[in-house]
Amino acid sequence: MSLPEINTGVRQRILKQGWIQFLDWQHELDSTNQRAKEWLLYSTESASLPALFVADVQLAGRGRGGKVWFSPQGCLMFTLAIGRSLLPESPQKWSQLALVSAAAVAECVASWIPDGARRVALKWPNDTYLVGRKCSGILVESGAGGARLIGIGINVHVDFSPAPAEVRQRATSMHEHILHHEATLDVRRLDPGQVLADLLELLQLYIGDWSSGGDAWFSVWQRRCLLSGKMLEIRYGNGQRVLGSCLGIDAQGCLMLDTKAGIACIASGEVLSWQ
Ligand code: BTN
Repeated sequence: MSLPEINTGVRQRILKQGWIQFLDWQHELDSTNQRAKEWLLYSTESASLPALFVADVQLAGRGRGGKVWFSPQGCLMFTLAIGRSLLPESPQKWSQLALVSAAAVAECVASWIPDGARRVALKWPNDTYLVGRKCSGILVESGAGGARLIGIGINVHVDFSPAPAEVRQRATSMHEHILHHEATLDVRRLDPGQVLADLLELLQLYIGDWSSGGDAWFSVWQRRCLLSGKMLEIRYGNGQRVLGSCLGIDAQGCLMLDTKAGIACIASGEVLSWQ
């Protein structure tokens, strides 16, 4: 099947699922997060949430901390815009959305990978790792009218040869793990669109559970936390650094670190190294 044929089938599957109320799928654009922001600002259909913005290729894919997201064909790239009604009542919980979404991503990736229960891990705050290399990242931003934009990139079938050296060193793509480990599995089935349709079902499940007070996302993190038991160096937003042994994450989504000064519960910061 050609890419347009696959995409048409996937579009139909997504709309049939009934959760997504508006779908915009472009071959090429700057950034799906940017597209979603503009749609929320200017569209008369802004009541149609959840809305989904997908691109086969991004020309200016954005990562966390102002980084660039390597965005060629073969990477699944989309932004899911959700409204206030899908968030928990307490605004204090809203910062957990990226962790909740990451739990859905990890479970989805694991369902496609042989021995995914062991090979897929979550790196705080919201990256999915496959056998020690980054396979997915999430950028959550705010949009007009209080909407939340969940921007997700997953390396499904990515050729990293034209990528910057830093990406080549630390990234991986799902197809590599299927080809290398289970030659019997049919890799042609592994397509960004199919992964997207599976992932939307899981996002609906995990976000719905979280918004009604459940903690399914937290169980996934407890099972898959890459950093638990490792020595970490963390940099806070103000530049200050701290070293400590990781005790996992708490039910709020903070990283717990056993440091010289006692237990620190870190709500935001960058993990500089782990071993
Ligand atoms: C990170 O790990 O730094 C987050 C990467 C997020 C990338 C996705 S791809 C789809 C969406 N559009 C963007 O411009 N960024 C996010």
